[in-house]
Amino acid sequence: MSFNAHIITAYPDMFPGPLGASLSGRALKDGLWDLALHDLRDFGQGKHNNIDDTPAGGGPGMVLRADVAAAALDSVDNETALPLILPSPRGQVFSQSMAEDWAQAPGLVFLCNRFEGVDERFIEARRPLEVSLGDYVLAGGELAAMVMLEAVLRLLPGIMGKAESGRDESFSAANQGLLEYPHYTRPNMWDGRAIPDVVTGGDHEKLAAWRRAEAQAVTKSRRPDLWARLNDKKDDKSD
Ligand code: ADE
Repeated sequence: MSFNAHIITAYPDMFPGPLGASLSGRALKDGLWDLALHDLRDFGQGKHNNIDDTPAGGGPGMVLRADVAAAALDSVDNETALPLILPSPRGQVFSQSMAEDWAQAPGLVFLCNRFEGVDERFIEARRPLEVSLGDYVLAGGELAAMVMLEAVLRLLPGIMGKAESGRDESFSAANQGLLEYPHYTRPNMWDGRAIPDVVTGGDHEKLAAWRRAEAQAVTKSRRPDLWARLNDKKDDKSD
């Protein structure tokens, strides 16, 4: 059964964009996932087919109308109660564990917004999960939806070349939530630099220990926040 990605957007031409290339592009052609685009402008209101309006009470920018967002959402065939995601800088921060959860669903619905925000009454009534890529502001939710979708699609069965390559990567449970250890490939000597002996030496136990230590060192120095969280979790478990 294919994974159903629904995108509600005023810019359907942006899709599949980069998701049409590489692994996700091949998987789309092969029918491993399906992309359904829903144009917000088809649900515009009034003589001018408006989808947005000025903020009540004043302020900059425009606000996506609740009635337009709801009509677009209601047009999506969503019998399987797919999770509804609203990419937004106000959301909780996207993570690998969210991607892993969403990859278990039969699909996802993204509502992409290009305005100052969505009328809060829509959010109260339809309870989308507001998710942010990070603490910066994009011009709209489309690129954020693509990023989140790609993170999910590569976890679906049959999409990654080798099931193994997803296993040890950064943030994954199999890698104990650490950043990845360094990788090397041929040639053995490049620019006066050799691949470390432990990597090519053939002692698997020694290599595994080296990789673990490298993953810990890189996590500690680059992501002290992540390192502290992982250690807090460990302390909780041993309590
Ligand atoms: N839309 C605008 N900024 C965003 C962000 N940081 N994450 C997700 N969606 C957004």
